[in-house]
Amino acid sequence: MKRPREGRDAGVGGVGGRAAGRIQLAPSMMCADISRISETLDAFARSGADWLHVDVMDGAFVPNIQLGVDYVKQLRGLSDIPLDLHLMVHEPGDKVDWFDPQPGEYVSIHYEATPHPQRVLDTIRNKGARPMIALNPATPIASVGYLLGDIDAVLIMTVNPGYAGQSLIPSTLGKIAELRAYLDEHGKPDIEIEVDGNVSVANGLKMKEAGADIFVLGSSAIFKDGVSVGDALSDFRAAMGR
Ligand code: DX5
Ligand code: ZN
Repeated sequence: MKRPREGRDAGVGGVGGRAAGRIQLAPSMMCADISRISETLDAFARSGADWLHVDVMDGAFVPNIQLGVDYVKQLRGLSDIPLDLHLMVHEPGDKVDWFDPQPGEYVSIHYEATPHPQRVLDTIRNKGARPMIALNPATPIASVGYLLGDIDAVLIMTVNPGYAGQSLIPSTLGKIAELRAYLDEHGKPDIEIEVDGNVSVANGLKMKEAGADIFVLGSSAIFKDGVSVGDALSDFRAAMGR
């Protein structure tokens, strides 16, 4: 059921977010039980989820196929929580339009997925959505150097994208800290860092310490047998201390 949500603007348009020193939580819809989608979305609204993270996988850029165009469009009708679209697809420039990005939504594309990331990020911006560039674990942070004017956030993959339930790649923790320093040194303190992959409470604390702002919550944090997703989300926020 759709319902108004407090703190909805926490991550939107630079209101709140980094400036407010508040972490943002983005439950991973790929992990949600489709048979209980309404109650799950209600629980996210009640527990103050900031974004709905939607993994789109094309079976080519990553070895898996996940959430598609119709799912995204229907999800918008079921919740007021803004979407955080993570496009793990080859040549995202051809496909961004299919998802009809809405103002205030985050849309991430992978640096590795197109020779023309700037053009695709510009397309996302022109739709009023918030462009984000995603980096696989092996992609250097300096890849974002000529994109700093085109992005609102960088998504650091802390596992190789494709599946839930993988183990953190330890070198990505240092990468988050390096990226935060790089952004600050280049006069971009407002660019946010999202982390995706094995974001457990224990890893999340290290990611927060390294400078992460937006946490994708999947099987490591909130989607567990016998656990209420809303309670788990609240517990995660409490454990992070803000
Ligand atoms: C991985 C997906 C994540 C995944 C993360 O490519 O983007 O959304 O669900 O959750 P974990 O790693 O905790 O299962
Ligand atoms: Zn993702």
